Amino acid sequence: MTDKITLAISKGRILKETIPLLERMGMAPVEDLGKTRKLLIDTENPDVRVVVIRATDVPTYVQYGAADLGIAGKDILMELEGDGLYEVLDLGICKCRLMLAGKQAGTQSGGRLRVATKYVKSAQQYFAQQGKQVEIIKLYGSMELGPLTGLTDLIVDLVDTGNTLRANGLQPIDHIADISSRLVANKASLKVRFDTLQAVISQFRNAIAEI
Ligand code: PRP
Repeated sequence: MTDKITLAISKGRILKETIPLLERMGMAPVEDLGKTRKLLIDTENPDVRVVVIRATDVPTYVQYGAADLGIAGKDILMELEGDGLYEVLDLGICKCRLMLAGKQAGTQSGGRLRVATKYVKSAQQYFAQQGKQVEIIKLYGSMELGPLTGLTDLIVDLVDTGNTLRANGLQPIDHIADISSRLVANKASLKVRFDTLQAVISQFRNAIAEI
């Protein structure tokens, strides 16, 4: 067991945009995350270490208390089942939109529409609110291929610049939710390690205010 606070960070774009925040907080990882094969990495703050893991694993580590804090996209958090985690801060990084998209209006097949997405829960909620019955097909990436191959009529996916939609001849149809990265905390850790965690949360708050 360690007394250090463990911060779980999603790999990829979230990590890239989190590093400048950590540097501003005096909490930069002491090893080059692009090079090291280590999975648990100390930071310049002797009380804090980081783990860099798949986006979908971040909430799991935090829910079970294996990580005290985590940084994950709202898209992932909206899919979460279960308890044990508080969303404490919107970090305002990695902003994008969860969108419904498809081929040009009118080119969808008749009957019940099929929708490809990694975000099954968000898509189900969205279509339920619309009072529409659709068939949702879970994919783990490259959702844009759904309408291109005839697998589905529509997709529910993240859109940032819109380049991927345009490059694949798809059109945005509806804006479902605004997405950004959130700082989350394990509920039990927040109680047991209140002072230490609040100090780190305040540092995050100050760092994002400076952006
Ligand atoms: C995400 C998303 C879109 C793309 C949107 O994919 O799923 O495909 O980025 O960005 P844009 O609007 O700027 O083109 P990502 O590269 O994360 O890979 P994924 O398909 O595996 O989710």
